Amino acid sequence: MMKKICVFSAFILLSLPDMYGQSVMRTNSSKRIRENFDMDWQFHKGDIAIKKNVKAGAQGGITDINVKVIAATDTIINYMDADSYKIFRAADWTQLNLPHDWAVEGAFVHDNSMGNQPAVSGYLPTGIGFYRKEFEIPEADKGKKISIEFDGIFRNSTVWVNGHLMGNHLSGYTPSNYDLTDVLRYGNEGKNVILVKVDASEYEGWWYEGAGIYRHAWLIKTNRLHVNRFGTFVTTPQISAAEAAVSISTVIKNENRETKTITLISKIIDNNGAVLDTKTISDPIPAYGQVEIAQKGLIRNPLLWSPETPNLYKVLTEVVENNIVADTYETTFGVRTIEVNKNGVFLNGKPYPVKGTCNHQDFAGIGVALPDKINWYKLKLLKEVGSNAYRCSHHPPTPELLDMCDSIGLLVLDENRFLSASEEGIKDLTTMLYRDRNHPSIFMWNMENEEWIQGTVTGARILETMVANTHKIDPTRKVTAAMNHGRNDGGYSDVLDVVGYNYGDKQLAYVKDKEKYPERVMFCTESTSFISTRGEYANDWGKAYVSSMDKWAPDWGPFPGEDWADIVKYPYLGGTFVWTGFDYRGEPTPYQWPGVTSQFGFMDICGFPKDGYYAYKAAWTNTPVVHIFPHWNWPGKEGDSVQVHCYTNCEEIELLLNGKSIGKQKAVPYKKLIWQLIYKPGKLEARGYMKGKPVTNDIVETTAAPAQINLKSDTYKLKADGCDVAVIKVAIKDEKGRVVPVADNLVKFSIEGPGTIIGTGNGNPASHEPDKASQRKSFNGYCLVLVQSEKEAGEIKLKAFSEGLKQAQVIIKSE
Ligand code: GAL
Repeated sequence: MMKKICVFSAFILLSLPDMYGQSVMRTNSSKRIRENFDMDWQFHKGDIAIKKNVKAGAQGGITDINVKVIAATDTIINYMDADSYKIFRAADWTQLNLPHDWAVEGAFVHDNSMGNQPAVSGYLPTGIGFYRKEFEIPEADKGKKISIEFDGIFRNSTVWVNGHLMGNHLSGYTPSNYDLTDVLRYGNEGKNVILVKVDASEYEGWWYEGAGIYRHAWLIKTNRLHVNRFGTFVTTPQISAAEAAVSISTVIKNENRETKTITLISKIIDNNGAVLDTKTISDPIPAYGQVEIAQKGLIRNPLLWSPETPNLYKVLTEVVENNIVADTYETTFGVRTIEVNKNGVFLNGKPYPVKGTCNHQDFAGIGVALPDKINWYKLKLLKEVGSNAYRCSHHPPTPELLDMCDSIGLLVLDENRFLSASEEGIKDLTTMLYRDRNHPSIFMWNMENEEWIQGTVTGARILETMVANTHKIDPTRKVTAAMNHGRNDGGYSDVLDVVGYNYGDKQLAYVKDKEKYPERVMFCTESTSFISTRGEYANDWGKAYVSSMDKWAPDWGPFPGEDWADIVKYPYLGGTFVWTGFDYRGEPTPYQWPGVTSQFGFMDICGFPKDGYYAYKAAWTNTPVVHIFPHWNWPGKEGDSVQVHCYTNCEEIELLLNGKSIGKQKAVPYKKLIWQLIYKPGKLEARGYMKGKPVTNDIVETTAAPAQINLKSDTYKLKADGCDVAVIKVAIKDEKGRVVPVADNLVKFSIEGPGTIIGTGNGNPASHEPDKASQRKSFNGYCLVLVQSEKEAGEIKLKAFSEGLKQAQVIIKSE
């Protein structure tokens, strides 16, 4: 029986495109088992002294099991030694499940001696932590190859299994994998233990990076004859309306002592599971050797992949020896052409302006340890604003996110962390490439972001090595680097396929460069960096609030949406990635303490839209949009002259105060409209007109005092798998049911039934309340609470209370 797991499965999504995942991942055969390894870990915060000889690779002590080994015939170590008893005490460890981020559980510390970058990492301490898990491997697994795959550990992780030092992995963003076959104990040989030391005291970026095993872990069991890790590469070199040629490359490994002759069967299937083509080939593989086998298949009348039509196919691989299936493997792919050239980006032969956002990985309440559901939730919000692309700045994302982008329909700019041609650097880069190259969503590789030695000859040499490695592993995609300087120096841009412009709008650098280098292929890798605090309309240094009305500094960047005007005007820029979709912890700009999060997002860290959100919705969708701000609760300002701003994609806007027209203004695309008027409480309405007819409107109204709480969950049904999450929005409303835009009431939660509160948030950039709590202050009318299912089915009842307000509750079925 396969274990229940809670991960996103691209395969199941083929038949259920509206769901973010399923709790059980099945393969078509029992030959390969990819078992989720997230459950039942023990965690210890802080360092533990490991005896020097143990550290150096000798067994024993804390790195091994603490129970008597029944058949310890494989080693001379006495597992019962005093050392292990002394060091491992269950009481010192916390029981938990992955993904886990211990930094977000900590308290904010304003201490510049805390580490290298207290502000950029959001003033949350990191340090060292240990993870430990005991597990059993059945006798029946003897003879299989068994490895462990960590999707991501932040960072510098060292792994021991049963006392054996397995290795070390520095990067917090690339996966690590250890072959455990020889060191495991099978059946009655005894229990197994894995110990992972995580040292997150160093950093890799200038944003909040978390601490711990913050992505999924997997135990992978295969035959000794098997498809290699990331061992398939499926491409579609020729595509027409009538047919798509499918080229399949498969690396098969033989870890037996004798040569094996295998038959490789590759089946192309559509999203109904129908087999469209089958290719079979036989080949001998030498002992402890591997072969790469090429096959060519065909899809008739292919359904193309695009963000609007995310059609997926799959190659099912079978490795057969003596008529017995030794291994099966699945590769999801899509049929699409992508071309980035000097005229722009072309998807399936048509111009395709990229409407992208840059994003870091974290979210309210949970730091970087995102259950799959939350990644899905974030992507859905981005789709709703009209975005068609995601830049995983500034590092490779968790692999489940790429599965989701394939199926929800978002192009991806996949990004390597460092400009480095060191052995370590190339390994990180190539791991990303092998892992990710089958995803149809990925349209280009990004080598680096704003490295200091851009535009230098040394930088160019390093970059050239990286680009050459990338072309070799994936000849189908172009390669860029996100540059903020040095674009015309040192031969740096010459080694790239596409020159990436971060903030090329400054002094119109991209336009000037295009005149100078007309053959240059350009792309707008990053833009905007507009800063605003949701619902705030004045700068406040003490509170770290930034007004949504003005630009914080005159030269900072364009207003939201204005960046899109350049993409429309200069289509050769190909599109843009706005910095950012969501606020994130760390990089508190422009203020530092008490600010602990960034404020660049057009949504806050909870995914609540700021005003700028509507500028992008107006620019990126055909839905008529009118959005006016600020709110209309200004007691004491009666009779004062105030500004009203409006984002719209309508042709004309009429403003009415308490039913009386203040006049019409013609809209200029991608520019906001501004009115100056005398403040009078009541109802302010903006009506949007197209061809002289009203098509939509927006209203801000003066509310009464907070009177009630309102709860709205994004779902009322969860999977009882211990992983699924309901995202519950909490709004503070007046007695007429209008959200009070200045409300900051403290909301306390209670929960009954098989559910757990895993985090809270409110979007306040200077909130120092703990995220892991059962209460939260609302911020400008809203806060958020995340409820995770447990493995037991039942009814989850979340209640919300606040002094003086009518309480609310929400019931969620977990099944
Ligand atoms: C960019 C950089 C981002 C972020 C942003 C803030 O230059 O690539 O990581 O720091 O500036 O404006």
